[in-house]
Parts: sequence; C-alpha cells; structure tokens
Amino acid sequence: MENRKTFYITTPIYYPSDKLHIGHTYCTVATDTIARYKRLRGFDVMFLTGTDEHGQKIEEKAKEAGKTPQQFVDDIVTGKGGILDLWKLMNISNDRFIRTTDDYHVESIQKIFRKMYENGDIYKGAYKGKYCTPCESFWTESQLVDGKCPDCGREVHDAEEEAYFFRLSKYAKPVQDLLETGTFLEPASRVNEMINNFIKPGLEDLCVSRTSFSWGIPVDFDPGHVVYVWVDALSNYCTALGLYNDRYHDFDRYWPADAHIVGKEIVRFHSIIWPAMLMSLGLPVPKKVYGHGWLVIDGGKMSKSKGNVVDPYVLAEKFGVDALRFFLLRTFPFGSDGNFTNELLISTINTDLANDLGNLVSRTTAMVEKYFGGVIPEEREPAQADEELIRLIRETPGNYAAQMDAFQLHLGLEEVFKLIQRANKYIDESAPWVLAKDEANRPRLAQVMFNLVEALRVSLICLTPFMPDSCGKAFSQIGAAAEAQTWESAVYGGMPAGTVIHKGETLFPRIDAVKELAELEKIHATAAAPKTPPVLPDVSIDDFARCDMRVCKILACEAVKKSDKLLRFTLDDGSGKERQILSGIRKYYEPEQLVGKKAVAILNLPPRKMMGMESNGMLLSAVAEEDGKETLHLMIVGDDIPVGAQLC
Ligand code: MSP
Repeated sequence: MENRKTFYITTPIYYPSDKLHIGHTYCTVATDTIARYKRLRGFDVMFLTGTDEHGQKIEEKAKEAGKTPQQFVDDIVTGKGGILDLWKLMNISNDRFIRTTDDYHVESIQKIFRKMYENGDIYKGAYKGKYCTPCESFWTESQLVDGKCPDCGREVHDAEEEAYFFRLSKYAKPVQDLLETGTFLEPASRVNEMINNFIKPGLEDLCVSRTSFSWGIPVDFDPGHVVYVWVDALSNYCTALGLYNDRYHDFDRYWPADAHIVGKEIVRFHSIIWPAMLMSLGLPVPKKVYGHGWLVIDGGKMSKSKGNVVDPYVLAEKFGVDALRFFLLRTFPFGSDGNFTNELLISTINTDLANDLGNLVSRTTAMVEKYFGGVIPEEREPAQADEELIRLIRETPGNYAAQMDAFQLHLGLEEVFKLIQRANKYIDESAPWVLAKDEANRPRLAQVMFNLVEALRVSLICLTPFMPDSCGKAFSQIGAAAEAQTWESAVYGGMPAGTVIHKGETLFPRIDAVKELAELEKIHATAAAPKTPPVLPDVSIDDFARCDMRVCKILACEAVKKSDKLLRFTLDDGSGKERQILSGIRKYYEPEQLVGKKAVAILNLPPRKMMGMESNGMLLSAVAEEDGKETLHLMIVGDDIPVGAQLC
C-alpha cells in the first residue's frame, strides 16, 4: 500500500460569495472524475477542494446581509444547500476540504509571508492609485470616468497606501523557462498566452497586503496589514498537506501536486505567481496546471437571467446526479468553452444514456434472463462475426486510458461509446431472438450473450469514474462482483463463470423533452424574476413629512460636459425661481426627451457640488431589475398635475 504511486490533484478553492452554479460544478466534477480514474488505476490519490473565504468582496457582502464575515461564509459553505451539501449531492470524492479561515491555514500563511519577507522577496512599498475619499476607494487611471470617481462622479486624488509587495519581477526568467517546458501548463495554447501577454511585457511586483479592509489573515509582524488574496489562496494547496502547520503531515508524500485543475481566467495566477512563490520558498513547483474552458450561455458569462436553469440542485434533482455529471464531461471538450443549454442537456441524456447505454444494459440483461435463466452456460461457440466486437473490447481500455491520462475526458468517453454503439449493432447483426428459436443454436446464443456482457462490463469499468452510482447499479444487474469491476479485469473474458444476471430498474429513463423544457422554463422564470428589496425599517410620519417633494417642470436639460453620467436640469418648482438639479441618469435618457415633462423632485436636501456645479435637490426615480439588468425610470407625472404640487 505504502509503495503505491501517489497522485495529488486539486480544484480551485471557491469564493463563498454566492450560490455556486453549473459552471463551478463542471470544474469540480471534472476533477472528481480524474481523481476516481486515478484510484481505479491503483494510485494513492489525494484530492483536495475547498473555499477561498477572505477579501473585501466577502466583507462587503456580509455587511449587506447584516452578518459578520465569518457567519456569512459559514452559511454559504456549511449551511443547508451550501457548498459542502452540493459536493455531497454531486458525489464528489474529495479526500480533504480546506477553508482559508481554518486556523492551521492561517498559521501557515503567516509563516509563508514571514519567510518571503525575511528572504527579501516581500518588501514594504506603497500601493499607488487614485483615491476617492467619500467612497474610500482606490481606482486605477483606466477605471476613472472623465477623470472622476466612477461611483459618485466626484474628484479623486493621487494617494498611496502602505503595502507589501512580492518580487514577482525577479522570477520572470525561471517562470518563462518553466512554461516553455511544454508539460507544465496545458492546453499548450495557454502557454503562449501567458508568455506573450504577461511575461514579455514585463512582470510587475505584486501587491500582497492591504490596509483598507480587515477581512483577511493579519500580517503577524505588522498588524493593520492583511495578506491580500493570492498568497492566501494559492498556498492552500500546500497548507492542506501540512506545510508549516501541525494539522496534517502529508506534504512530503504528495507534494509537488500532479495537477491543479483551474478555469482559464485563473491560469495566470497558477502558472506565473504560484510557481514564483514556490521558488521563493525553495519548494518544488507543481507538475501540471490544466486550464479548462468555461461553460457559457449564448457565448457570454453564466447568469440566472439568461433563459436556462443553471442551478445544479434543480438539474440534479430533475435528471439525476450521474446524468448531469456525464453530460458536463461528454459534451464539452475540456480545454475549450462550451455553450450550455437545457436542450443540449436533455438530448445528450436521451441519446447516450437512455438509448445507447441504457438499451445495452436492458436488452442484454433481459435476454440472458429470458434465454438462460440469468446464467450464461459455459458451452459456447465462437464465430468470425464476433471478432470486431472482441477486438474493440480488447482495445477500448487502452485507448480510453490514453485520453484520460491527458485529461481529455470527452475523448475518453468517446472511446467507450464506440464500444457501446458497436455492441448495440452486434445485437442487431446477431439477432439472438432468431438464434433462440432453434435448440441447436444454444452454444452460439451463449457466445453472443457472453460477448455482450463483456462489452458492457468493460464499458462500465471505464464509465465508473464518470457515473459511480449508476455503474454500481449496472454492475449488480450483470452480476459483476468487486473483482470483475477492477481495471485489471477490464480484459475480454474477465467475467467469472456462473455469474448470475438480473434485469433491474431502468437506469436512465427517457426524458420527455417538451414537458421538461416547459417545466424548466417555469423554474427559470421564477428564479430570474426581479427580486424586490425588503421593505426598510419604519420611519415616523413626522420624518416623512419633513421631505419636501414637489412636482417640477423640466425647463431645460443638457448633458454635463466631460461627464458620462450627469445631466443638468433647469426646473420650475412653482416658487417663481429656477432651480438647478444634477442627476446621474445620462445613460438612461437623452436630454431632449425630457424637456417639457413634469417630474418629482425632493427639494430640501442640502446643496451638493458635482463637477464644479451645485445641485439643489434630487429628481426621484424608480430603480428595478429587469432581465438581470438594473433599469431606471424617472418619476414623470401627468401633465394635469400643477407645477409646485406637493407630495404628501
Ligand atoms: N477563489 C478563486 C480561486 C482560487 S484558487 C487558489 C476563484 N474562485 S471562483 O469561485 O470564482 O471560481 C472557482 C472556479 O470555478 C474557477 O476555476 C473558475 O474558472 C470556475 N468557474 C466559474 N464559472 C465557470 C463557468 N461558467 N464554467 C466553468 N468554470 C467556471 O476563482
């Protein structure tokens, strides 16, 4: 046992900022399938996944939700219907789960940070940017709108925040050499992207601490700084094995990792920053980073508003966990993007699972029961007509393994389905129902049944990493005991004599596409319906009465020069004097559309300066979410309401 070859594989650690969708599930299911395949091949596998729980975004989301950051992440990770539940549902066989808020990880990160500081690779500098004081935010030059804060339109100023930096620039050459080995980063197309887009233009040192938020791991020798994102997140792959902590003790056994499986947008961090950090720590770099593509909808990012159900809980409940796992890996080449649709999901399940695989299982088991009472006799008569199928049974495991070893999961499945389809054709060609009519054909009929069971058994061995539960059920239908399910037994003739076969439940019932798509459409409409925010806490009638809101006529309206956002309104508020209000609604209206209309404004807000002009009040608008986008409608009222009419 101790001498088995090890295989250490990881998924990225997920941000628990929101519910995970089918795209996240894709990454984890793929990694799980590779881990299961390696176990099947006899490796001592360590499969790690987890959650990346620190950072400003989580801090802000927690605040919005009225929770502490720790409560917020606990709910999303360990709460009902959370990330741990999802992985359990999807039958993910991870050996370990790391949370970056775990004490042992925190301890290790502080040591890692200190080591790199002490060896001179982390130094104190200044994070420079444009700062908006009221918003307390740093912006880069390119984020500014007309040189102003993109959030509030106010002036920003050059500012510096003390921060620590990692000398990434120092490692440009060794990292480029590593990328050029050709085996470290796959698919190969991603290597040029990294070298041309990031290394050749010059690697800049990386900001690795911040002082403007606190939800992170404190730098122990400089309180006030928290470790910023990537040092904390990437190191999880080592801290989860016990690097610089006493919680685990497998670092020497499993490091360097055999494969980090990551989505394409984080390849840069894994193939440039991570090896540089490891070099700085004097540790070996991982053997491989594999950057898979994205599941997209209509060519763009996944979102629940885009006309398809993307909630893995809903899809798994409707179609079954294994069917969903299978669909994800059968349909999309692992290195490229794939367009996800509910139609494609249903048609793949119907074609490959209900028709091809499901039929082979049910026809084979039904015939062995019917013709031989469930046990294939030993007296069998081979024929030339068997040769092609037998050759395929013999070749499939090797061809499949070559694809699986290269993480070409869809091509591994393709090899198995060639065998399944050939076996179905073999049933039609050998017409067992005709052979069964004549007692003299019994040995020939027995041979046909034997070949079918073997084709099925070998296919199931290869499919087990993809669909562990369903293959388990199919194995029991064909009576394959544990020793007939091993990789070593995936050879023609590996099934022991006397095996008892029982036709069982239908493994993959055919899906009524029209009915299910209509149901999914309903579920989608409910999920994508605009969410109205909860009603705010009570205010007194007196507070309300102090807000002076009136109907005003728009006398003039023009876009403010050098601003993408602001419109300048000249209003008649009924007082006899013109009133100027600035409003950030330029992207919703053309100024000339609004002239002559009557709108509602609150007049007794303190004057506020924007772009050097004074705004005296605020026009009221209704803000909503429509088709996943925020929309805004100015409160225009009927022409019959007199100017100056007060809202009460
Ligand atoms: N926390 C970082 C990873 C740190 S690893 C040291 C992160 N988290 S994430 O939750 O945003 O994304 C986790 C993984 O999910 C990434 O590999 C990402 O590519 C993957 N996916 C997110 N949406 C996806 C699709 N639509 N399709 C496929 N994978 C997708 O990044």
